[in-house]
Amino acid sequence: MTLKVIQWATGSVGREAVDCILDHPDLELVGCWVHSPEKAGKDVGEVLGIAPTGVITTTSVDEICAIDADAVMYSPLVANPKHVSALLRSGKNVVTPVGWFYPDAEQTRRMNEACEAGGVSLHGTGMDPGAITEVFPLIMSAMSKNVTFVRGEEISDIRGYGSPDVVRDLMMFGGTPQEAVGGPMLDLLDNGYRQSVTMITDALGLPRAAVRIERLLETAVATEPIDSPIGTIAPGHVAGQRFYWDAYVGDHKVARVGVTWLMGEENLDPPWDFGPDGERFDIEVRGTPDTVFSVSSWHPDTNDEGLDRNLGIVATAAHCVNAIPVVVAAAPGLRTSRDLPMITGKAHPTLLAAAGRG
Ligand SMILES: NC(=O)c1ccc[n+]([C@@H]2O[C@H](COP(=O)([O-])OP(=O)(O)OC[C@H]3O[C@@H](n4cnc5c(N)ncnc54)[C@H](OP(=O)(O)O)[C@@H]3O)[C@@H](O)[C@H]2O)c1
Repeated sequence: MTLKVIQWATGSVGREAVDCILDHPDLELVGCWVHSPEKAGKDVGEVLGIAPTGVITTTSVDEICAIDADAVMYSPLVANPKHVSALLRSGKNVVTPVGWFYPDAEQTRRMNEACEAGGVSLHGTGMDPGAITEVFPLIMSAMSKNVTFVRGEEISDIRGYGSPDVVRDLMMFGGTPQEAVGGPMLDLLDNGYRQSVTMITDALGLPRAAVRIERLLETAVATEPIDSPIGTIAPGHVAGQRFYWDAYVGDHKVARVGVTWLMGEENLDPPWDFGPDGERFDIEVRGTPDTVFSVSSWHPDTNDEGLDRNLGIVATAAHCVNAIPVVVAAAPGLRTSRDLPMITGKAHPTLLAAAGRG
């Protein structure tokens, strides 16, 4: 049975999600919400510069809620719980990379009410938060006994991320260190990474009362002007950031999730770099035995390539879209990665066609 899916927002993640939905054998695109009025009333294909889809965009939440659909892939710039609630109450399952990965009891209660009202489920996942900071480390932890430390971390050149609004206005690159520290990113990431690190310590069986979470934001500034997709970063302004959420039991660090974003490796103070292994996502489980690996194939070879199509963003969109059939099949309620069965990708359309699924 084909599931009817609405795409909410057509930014970097949204455009890749549309691509994933169109190629998915069990999904059909039936609606699309756009933020900018100039994108409204057009075929999604026209907005994204791809072949016509027959689906017309709208800025109206009411129109989206009125569409007969099974699920919404919700990927706006920032989460609006009222919109998500309305989607759930209108009977649409929601998957999203912008929150609800492993929320606290109060957030869960509120969203469970909306899920129950609509008879549907809500699932937050993506790359990180998501696969790198929760799913991969926890799957690998199953291969060890006596786990002592778990880590999921991104190390990236942020010049290859084609969302200038996010890089400039949320991450505050190009601002002063004080602006970055006081900016929205720490709290926005806190909403995700704190949930990831809590999922890890819960899964390891550590009582929450015994776990202390410390968060850390460090900045590096440009020592010379640095060219970037958001303009030139002036000396003394932020060109590198590290965000960590560390979980401790007593003095023992038991988990770390976080990210290092740099505007390249030159002219930074402190002189941070990507390390000998370059840009990557690290997964580390210390136990008996250890498991340590890095994913480097999600990073572009060049920043221009990343701006054109960032494979980490493709991975984020794919993880959400591939989750839709599993989320639709789940019992109503907020469903985290710990609740759901295995999520998988689907074969390439040419293989599906060759196998008789045209
Ligand atoms: N969990 C993960 O692994 C993961 C990975 C990557 C991104 N994300 C998150 O996913 C979200 C989308 O990322 P992105 O890379 O697609 O960002 P983006 O390229 O900047 O796209 C943001 C989208 O939101 C729309 N928008 C702008 N202002 C808005 C507002 N005030 N209210 C609602 N929508 C608004 C934009 O509309 P217009 O196009 O009309 O301007 C655009 O479609 C971000 O919150 C990001 O942090 C999560």
